[in-house]
Amino acid sequence: MHAPEPRSRRTAPFALLLAGLPLLAADCSQDPQRQEAEASAAAAIASAPATTGPRVTLRLSGSLEGRLEPCGCASGQIGGLARRSFRLQGDRGRYDFLIEGGDLVGGGTVLDELKLMTLLTVLDDRRARYDAVALGPRDLQLDSGVLAGFLDGFPQLAFVASDLVATPAPDQPAWPTRPFVDLAKEGCRVRIASLARAVPTNPAAGAPAFERLEPAAAWERAMAGVDPASVRVLLVHGAADAARACATLTPRPDLLVAIGDTAEPPHDPEFVDGVPLVQPGVRGRHLLDVTLAREGDRSKLVQYAPFALEGSRTAKGALQDADVDAQILAHRHEVKAEDARSKLANRLPTANGAEYVGSTKCASCHYAAGKAWEASKHGHAWRTLESAEETKRYAWPVTWYPDCIACHTVGYGERSGFVSPEATPDLRGVGCESCHGAGSRHAADPTLHRLGKVDTQRCTQCHDYEQSPDFDYPARWKLIEHGK
Ligand code: HEC
Ligand code: HEC
Ligand code: HEC
Ligand code: HEC
Repeated sequence: MHAPEPRSRRTAPFALLLAGLPLLAADCSQDPQRQEAEASAAAAIASAPATTGPRVTLRLSGSLEGRLEPCGCASGQIGGLARRSFRLQGDRGRYDFLIEGGDLVGGGTVLDELKLMTLLTVLDDRRARYDAVALGPRDLQLDSGVLAGFLDGFPQLAFVASDLVATPAPDQPAWPTRPFVDLAKEGCRVRIASLARAVPTNPAAGAPAFERLEPAAAWERAMAGVDPASVRVLLVHGAADAARACATLTPRPDLLVAIGDTAEPPHDPEFVDGVPLVQPGVRGRHLLDVTLAREGDRSKLVQYAPFALEGSRTAKGALQDADVDAQILAHRHEVKAEDARSKLANRLPTANGAEYVGSTKCASCHYAAGKAWEASKHGHAWRTLESAEETKRYAWPVTWYPDCIACHTVGYGERSGFVSPEATPDLRGVGCESCHGAGSRHAADPTLHRLGKVDTQRCTQCHDYEQSPDFDYPARWKLIEHGK
């Protein structure tokens, strides 16, 4: 999980702090709406010294990790593709290029495949088509043949993986990622490179031979023949330290983008040996606008503006694109039609090696704990999903959607864990073993096999910053207290 707790509110004051240029100077795009917006921003930094030359605004995102939209477990959640799409269309002219950092999906399951189809369709939307899409290590967990098929299906999208070298067999097609993408618009040039820092982990039969280049070699290959006037952008997956280490590469990057480390874009950009390093955050909750200006042979950061994709407080469905909503809805039904629920069950070993026995069994010896649990919301967490489906609070089958099931049942995805309400009725809801771990050995011989203490990190695996933004252990434990 991504550790840092996000701050609740943020503004984008950095644009005001930077010694930027008057924002109406020779710009890539001349959209009237943009000029209007920028005129007010320009007024705010009127005292800043002017530089000349073209500037370019990149709108960055990354590490969506399959979050097509917020789960709805708490109010006021931010993010989601439909809001992103709405915002991209409304802001057209305020940015020059759309860059997606990758890790679109969370891994290599059937569900991820179904999500990727929806995700790429949205990124390819002609109303706001992405200019570059990098691939991350999670994307590379998909079956490589399936992944290549998807990418080939979107010929208008440019997929980047600079450190991935794929050598297909002589009779095989070319691999669909490239080492860099060149973007140009009215005097502005940008070259985008990306380090996935991984190779496909599930190569299909007949897949190319994959090799991963070290950062220096990957960057050198990606920057070969680059126009000296180009702004050189490097996206780096994984811990931000990996991106920091790239500040000293040759040629010098103009912008480093760390993908997938912090939960939220930091309040201010960071500078590593003078190279700006920015982070767009994870789970598709924010977008980040970065404006760079050319100054001699160097680029300068003149705007850094992260913003949250917030929903409307008053009107459901406002501030989000209806077509994208409809696509996500179609995806939800497809997940049920494909029975992804049972395909994702029973894949992984349990953490302690035992099997799940269900809460009824536990309660047969721990009577008082059983009563307390039945009365708690955990005992009803499956029922909550069912009624959310019945009452059309969610207009789609949430009891069939693996992401929802994972936190509202016992052991879903693990061997002997939840499969379906019919096959595993005793594993519905957040049961004893959701916290205490699989209990077959303990149930068979309680004194020989102890279950041990429950780590509070157990709680925050489900009660994380999206589901329970103000989770406070002592206060919450009081509500479910049991045992000695
Ligand atoms: C497997 C996921 C999961 C784990 C682990 C988990 N919870 Fe929960 N918790 C939930 C879900 C889901 C709900 C909402 C259930 C509902 O409303 O139907 C919930 C609800 C609650 C509630 C009721 C909400 C309220 O404020 O009235 C409390 C209290 C709570 N959890 C405390 C804890 C504590 C303390 C831990 C760790 C010891 C914990 N939970 C671990 C998933 C989990
Ligand atoms: C990471 C774990 C997690 C996932 C994934 C998750 N939930 Fe929850 N859900 C929770 C927790 C924890 C709560 C209780 C929140 C609290 O009270 O703090 C909750 C509460 C709820 C509630 C009750 C909230 C209320 O206001 O009454 C509903 C309904 C719900 N979840 C539906 C869903 C649906 C639908 C999905 C899938 C789209 C989903 N959940 C995915 C953990 C999760
Ligand atoms: C939401 C998480 C959660 C759920 C669900 C839960 N427990 Fe617990 N349980 C805890 C925590 C936390 C403690 C406090 C002691 C500890 O840290 O292990 C505890 C304590 C206990 C104890 C006392 C342990 C001791 O050291 O004396 C027993 C027995 C117990 N639980 C049984 C159950 C049974 C049986 C169920 C299901 C009917 C259940 N629990 C459901 C989290 C949970
Ligand atoms: C056959 C009766 C029986 C069953 C079934 C049973 N327990 Fe226990 N459990 C005990 C006894 C007895 C102890 C006390 C062990 C001791 O102190 O030597 C205990 C202790 C515990 C403790 C205290 C911590 C520890 O490791 O000793 C927890 C937590 C616990 N049980 C949870 C569960 C859960 C969860 C289940 C269901 C998976 C379960 N128990 C099923 C009899 C049972």
